[in-house]
Amino acid sequence: MTTPSSPHRVLGIETSCDETAASVVDGGSVIASSVVSSQIDLHARYGGVVPELAGRAHVERLTPVLSEALDLAGSDASGTGIDAVAVTHGPGLIGSLLVGVAEAKALSLAWGVPLIGVNHLEAHLFASLLEQPDLGLPLAVLLVSGGHTLLIEVSEPGRYRVLGGTIDDAAGEAFDKVARFLGLGYPGGPAIDRIADEGDPHAFAFPRSLPGPGYDFSFSGLKTSVVNTVRRQPDASTADVAASFRLAVVDVLVTRARRAAAEMGATALCLAGGVAANSLLRRRIEAACAEDGIGAFLPSRALCTDNAAMVAAAGWWRLRHEGPSPLTLGADPDLRLPTAA
Ligand code: KG4
Ligand code: ZN
Repeated sequence: MTTPSSPHRVLGIETSCDETAASVVDGGSVIASSVVSSQIDLHARYGGVVPELAGRAHVERLTPVLSEALDLAGSDASGTGIDAVAVTHGPGLIGSLLVGVAEAKALSLAWGVPLIGVNHLEAHLFASLLEQPDLGLPLAVLLVSGGHTLLIEVSEPGRYRVLGGTIDDAAGEAFDKVARFLGLGYPGGPAIDRIADEGDPHAFAFPRSLPGPGYDFSFSGLKTSVVNTVRRQPDASTADVAASFRLAVVDVLVTRARRAAAEMGATALCLAGGVAANSLLRRRIEAACAEDGIGAFLPSRALCTDNAAMVAAAGWWRLRHEGPSPLTLGADPDLRLPTAA
C-alpha cells in the first residue's frame, strides 16, 4: 500500500534501444496506459539496430508516444495527476538514452515533480512485479534479452547478486544472428520461435556449451555450429535447424537457471527480458519449477520485451526507497545493477 505522502502515479519513459515507450502506472503495479512504438521496420533491412537511426527515431516518436500515454491515462501535456517521472538512464545506446533522459528532465522541471533514473535491467525485473506484486525472496532471476544474459540472485528488495552472465553473445543476440543467417529477418527471436514449432528439435545435435563450473553462458560456439551445419547441408530444413537451435539454447538456459535456484534455496524462478517471450523457454521453465516445487514467474509477453510500464514500476519503487534523482542525472550506457552487500 502507498502512504498518502508517497507519489502514486508515475510516468515512465523508455528509449534505451529500439523501442520508444511511455506508460503511466499507479501505485507501482496498476497500468493506466502503456504505449510502445517499435522501430523494427526501420532496422529490419540492416539486420540489427543501427544506433544513429534509433536515436533520431526516438526524437521523432517520443512526443506522440508520450501524448498518447498521457491521454489514455486521463492526463494531458500539463501532467495533470502525474506525481513523478521515471526514465531509463542506462544501460543502452547512448544516443537513444539521452533522448529519454532529456525529455524526462524537462517534464520533471515543467511539472514540478520528482525525476527518477531507472536501470533498464532492474526495470525488466519489475515487469514480473507488475503482475505478481508478492514475489517471495530469495528469488532467482534469468534475465535474457538482446544485450544481456544474466543469472541473478535477489535476496533483498532492490539489491542484486549477479551469479553469471554470457562470455560472448547474449541469448537474444544469438537468436538474432542465427535468424539473419537463415534469412528469417529481424528481430530473430520471434521468427525462430514461430518456425521452430514446425521443425524437429532433434534433427541436429547442436552443442550445449556450459563454460566453467559456475553460472556463465556461451552461445557463439552454438551459432558457429549452426552456420557450419547449414553450409555443409544447404538442403537442410530451416524449420529443423531452427527447432534444434532453439532447443539447444533453452536446454542451456534451463539447466543453469534451475541449478542456481536450487543452490540459493529460491522460492521462485523469474524470467525477464525479451527472450523470456520464447514459447519453449516458458514451457520448460514452468515444467522445471513445477518439478522442483518452486514458483515460476513469467511476465506476459508484452511485458517481457522493452516497455515503459516496467520503468514506471521500478521508478515508483526506487523513489519510495531511495528518493528522487538529481536533475544532473546522466545517461550511462554501461550502467550496472545495484549489488547486494
Ligand atoms: O528486452 P528486449 O526487448 O530488448 C533488450 O533490452 O535487448 O529483448 C529483445 C531480444 C531480441 O534479441 C529478440 O530477438 C528477443 O529478445 N526475443 C525473442 C523472442 N521475442 C523477442 N527471443 C526468442 N524468442 C522469442 N519469442
Ligand atoms: Zn530490454
